[in-house]
Amino acid sequence: MKATAVAHANIALVKYWGKRDEALILPEAGSLSVALDRLRTVTTVELGGGRDVFELDGEPQDPARVRAFLDAAGIREKARVVSRNDFPTAAGLASSASGFAALAVAACAAAGQKRSAEELSALARLGSGSAARSVPGGWAVWEGESARQVHPPEHWDLRFCVALCAAGPKTTGSRDGMRASRETSPYHAAWIEQCRRDLPEALRLLALRDLPGLGALAERNALRMHADALAADPPLLYWEPATVACLQALRELRAGGVPAWPTIDAGPHVVAICAAPDAKQVEMRLRALGGVKEVLTCSPAGGARVVVPL
Ligand code: DP6
Repeated sequence: MKATAVAHANIALVKYWGKRDEALILPEAGSLSVALDRLRTVTTVELGGGRDVFELDGEPQDPARVRAFLDAAGIREKARVVSRNDFPTAAGLASSASGFAALAVAACAAAGQKRSAEELSALARLGSGSAARSVPGGWAVWEGESARQVHPPEHWDLRFCVALCAAGPKTTGSRDGMRASRETSPYHAAWIEQCRRDLPEALRLLALRDLPGLGALAERNALRMHADALAADPPLLYWEPATVACLQALRELRAGGVPAWPTIDAGPHVVAICAAPDAKQVEMRLRALGGVKEVLTCSPAGGARVVVPL
């Protein structure tokens, strides 16, 4: 009746930004991501107490979203869920992907449910869409009901330098942001069509380990997602001055012969994609920028799994 699981957050190179079914959290287009080793959530689920309890990083939280998720998993027993993020959540780094992936795996193990990897991914999706990709981990594609690993983490030893560009949590969450873009942005249909073209091309470049090709595609895809968000009514502006400083610094690095490309989720933080030997230089350059609070350099990681707690 008790189990612990770990899961990693993921960064999308072809983004999910639009749902074709809001209740079932089904995406309008497929997405591609990689799991990041240093962005990790550890969650313990214990079933059978008198009431639901949810604790995140030592602080009690409203257990409503966790309860709704357990109901969807067919778990009726009261649960004590204790979750810890190994990265600064207060800074607004996405934790819902690793959080719901770890919760899905720990809760099903605690309840003695035997679900396939595909079923666990589909379940995690009901908590947060991007969590579907954190279940298989590695290089993962999410189309339809569940995500699958298309390459293991070892396929390509790239680095992802996560530059924290703001201190507080973001203003408009992904859920509301993508709904607003879908309903009010005149560019939304074009954005979705672009993602449908980007995914097969990104998979081809990933299989070839073509960094200039995939890096440039990831930058274009992210900026087009933000163009869609900027075109919403009212407009969604996720960037801070430090975000733009990072984009420009990466352009300068490339002009100077250091290959590194940015991607940005629905927030101010920039993730620089580069080869392992260049990571130190990219990290130092981003760290030196005013407004960049911290840079966490990550490697590709595996999927969500049950662990024996220390
Ligand atoms: C910009 O998975 O957080 O990070 O499904 O509504 O919970 P919900 O949204 P969420 O959205 C992630 C959006 C993104 C792009 C991506 O990760 O693909």
